[in-house]
Amino acid sequence: MIHIAVLVSGGGTNLQALIDAQQAGKIENGRIALVVSSNPTAGALERAARANIPSAVLRRRDFGSTDAYAQALDALLRENGIGLVVLAGFMTVLPDSLCRSWENRIINVHPSLIPSFCGEGYYGLRVHEAALAKGVKVTGATVHFVSEVVDGGAIIAQKAVDVADDDTPETLQRRVMEQAEWVLLPQAVSDFCAGRLQQRSNGANRKEKE
Ligand code: GAR
Repeated sequence: MIHIAVLVSGGGTNLQALIDAQQAGKIENGRIALVVSSNPTAGALERAARANIPSAVLRRRDFGSTDAYAQALDALLRENGIGLVVLAGFMTVLPDSLCRSWENRIINVHPSLIPSFCGEGYYGLRVHEAALAKGVKVTGATVHFVSEVVDGGAIIAQKAVDVADDDTPETLQRRVMEQAEWVLLPQAVSDFCAGRLQQRSNGANRKEKE
């Protein structure tokens, strides 16, 4: 059984999608063991409490250096026997040292079709504002492994979502969540825990049945 840590900063709808998938028995061989929030007032913490999942708050600004922050987070994950870290709306850029020591064991959900509208500065609603400003007709979401390059790790899954003429950043965000993020993330977590993800030089694939 793989112990999963979910790192959050906000409302936690992606965390909720994972909790719902777990409660529906859709994450074979995985269990959400810990929620870590960068924000003490994150709604995600209430979702964790409602599901009886232990949580912790860790803020980068409470540490004197990136190294000290990385060590504290690393220690928390190890103490809890974590085998998979999921960034679900986590708005702190993970320290490089942590990306390296947890390589291939951290996945992130990003609300666009990478390599569009990603990298530093593209997070949350800003991603959808940028997509609308560009006038794209299709956007979507991506689940990927985390590397030291922001939003640059191996892509695991993507799903396209249509943009409507009258979309606002908020309506587009909601559609991308409903149609893509809440579907892709639980599936990728389930695949990881069941050993169904196959690393390739240019990404990660779901293994065909053996
Ligand atoms: C989600 O859309 C997630 O993809 C995005 O923030 C939102 C969090 O919502 N993450 C990023 O932009 C990371 N670069 P949630 O707290 O309701 O899951």
